[in-house]
Amino acid sequence: MPAVKPFATDHLRRIPLYIPGKPIQEVRRELGLDRVVKLASNENPWGPTEAVKARLARAIAGTEDEGLGLYPVSDGYYLRQAIARRRGLSIENVLLGNGSSEIIEMMAKAALLDGGSAVIPQHSFAIYGIATQTVGGRVLETRADLHETSVDAILAAVQSDTRLVFLGNPNNPTGVLPGRRALERLVKGLRDDIVLVVDQAYAEYEDPEGYADATAFLREREGLLVLHTFSKIHALAGLRVGYGLGSPDLLQLLERVRSPFNTNHLAQVAAEIAVQDQAFEAFSRGKNREGRQAFIAEARKHRCQVSGQGGNFLMLESALPAQDLFQELLRRGVIVRPMQGYGLPNHVRVTLGKPEDMDAFWRAAGPLLDCGC
Ligand SMILES: Cc1ncc(COP(=O)(O)O)c(C=O)c1O
Repeated sequence: MPAVKPFATDHLRRIPLYIPGKPIQEVRRELGLDRVVKLASNENPWGPTEAVKARLARAIAGTEDEGLGLYPVSDGYYLRQAIARRRGLSIENVLLGNGSSEIIEMMAKAALLDGGSAVIPQHSFAIYGIATQTVGGRVLETRADLHETSVDAILAAVQSDTRLVFLGNPNNPTGVLPGRRALERLVKGLRDDIVLVVDQAYAEYEDPEGYADATAFLREREGLLVLHTFSKIHALAGLRVGYGLGSPDLLQLLERVRSPFNTNHLAQVAAEIAVQDQAFEAFSRGKNREGRQAFIAEARKHRCQVSGQGGNFLMLESALPAQDLFQELLRRGVIVRPMQGYGLPNHVRVTLGKPEDMDAFWRAAGPLLDCGC
């Protein structure tokens, strides 16, 4: 029997595979460990809140107009309304995705439907490139720094067929925060027919006073899409829900490539509670700040190079290749994220977890790092 040879095989093989953080169950199963600590996917260990859980329980119990047997509200009207209220925008400025990853995919699909390119800084979230290549777009990777956004490199990389520019605010995995001036230069300096996608998955971890929120530029630029997620500070990664903020015209175009019912009912009702809970955000932000300071102090004791400004993660540079350090830590029951696939062969990214999880990390990593950071 001839082997199955799907069309576009070569094209498909060139698309990098997304390698997610290893699930705890998988490490337990593979290594026969009892206690496993996951610091690999930038989840918030302090939630979800009791209010979210109570709302989920009610939704599962069901009523006449909600229940697991009914389709969800396809366009997520009520959640969009709650997000719009929180962000000081109107409901037409809000689009939901099955995680913000899905909105990145929708944006790539819509913009690169008939070809074109996307500018993506080096060491950016892998889905930007994967989504671009999946729809046949070209990736224009620009040189990037571990400490600041290289706006000149981004502007210089733009070509006549460029339709998208991706930028993390802060960037994952480097934690670089572009700041207001860099955002303003891109908002004003990019051609009008390019959509600037500013990914703010970790925005809520920043001090609201000092944070340069790209939403402030929505009135100035039609071609601007700002992304947020419920997977990080809101602690709802398992429910898969994120949102995009943009002009009604841009979002109506994205609506054409949105799958019907792309966010499920449980995700919508949980996120509707979460987006209003500013006290939980502030609590998580405080815990993250403490965790960051403690991590940097501990890294200093081991004379390790740490990088990262924003988000709920940091990167450690080690003399060991990232993959080896990752494997050694796995054997000791700690999951981190090796960064060789992000062009950083000696870096691992570590999510800031609860203090007891960070203790477990340092007990496992300390002796390995003392051999040379
Ligand atoms: C920068 C960035 N953007 C987007 C996402 C996607 O989040 P989700 O699809 O869970 O909303 C992540 C997740 O790790 C991320 O780090």
